Amino acid sequence: MSHARMYRDLAYLWPLVSPVEEYVEEAEVLRAAFKDRLGPGRHSLLDLGIGGGHHIAPLVGDFDVTGVDLSPEMLAHSKRLNPDVDHHVGDMRTIRLDRKFDAVLIHDSIGHMLTENDLRAAVETAVAHLRPGGVLIACPDWCRETFPDEHVTHSTNRRGDTSLTCIEYLYDPDPTDTTVELLVFYLIRENGHVRVEQDRLIVGIFPKQTWFELVEQAGFDVDPQSFASAKYGEEPVLLIGVFRG
Ligand SMILES: C[S@@+](CC[C@H](N)C(=O)[O-])C[C@H]1O[C@@H](n2cnc3c(N)ncnc32)[C@H](O)[C@@H]1O
Repeated sequence: MSHARMYRDLAYLWPLVSPVEEYVEEAEVLRAAFKDRLGPGRHSLLDLGIGGGHHIAPLVGDFDVTGVDLSPEMLAHSKRLNPDVDHHVGDMRTIRLDRKFDAVLIHDSIGHMLTENDLRAAVETAVAHLRPGGVLIACPDWCRETFPDEHVTHSTNRRGDTSLTCIEYLYDPDPTDTTVELLVFYLIRENGHVRVEQDRLIVGIFPKQTWFELVEQAGFDVDPQSFASAKYGEEPVLLIGVFRG
């Protein structure tokens, strides 16, 4: 269970932390990656860790989407943004909806899988929900090989009377394990007053080899294009598997 404030008391700020407009380009890459493998037509898609639904919003016109997330606060955003999506509160490691989909997407929420066992459980959930020939795409922000030891980002976004400046510091306290740490400082300006809040998230990070082996062993053919563009900030990193069934 994630204890990140970002998904609980500070979740109301999500539209300013990561504005929906910023996902349009990446959604094009995801749409093409699914459609190239599934062919034409309208397909069913299970989104594990849908969060505020920002990454899926540009795709709901093309797919019948079911979304799962641990955080009711984050789901509330997605419900507003994506009213046609079937939303469920649940854990991507254990949820079973007793139906099969053409596609499973685990977007950046895959970063909340902190151990190989977590990762295996999330992939098993994908297996339990895919028809033979179905496609799994996971989008880890980083893999071990591309992690730069430390990484700083900042952004300021405004909506109505609220302006949020977010400073994120990601670093690796122990390069021998499968996690890194993200510290977030929120400068929240509401009605002219600024208050500062902070957050600490642990993020899972795995070598490409771990990804490949784990997904292969679960019954997928790993697409050779997986991790083809693994340079953070330029193009999304996709792990693509086609379920052998
Ligand atoms: C960075 S947010 C996702 C934001 C999303 N990409 C968007 O566009 O709005 C990560 C999400 O993963 C969810 N999460 C973390 N662990 C989870 C788990 N075990 N099962 C399901 N969701 C989980 C969190 O509640 C959070 O909403």
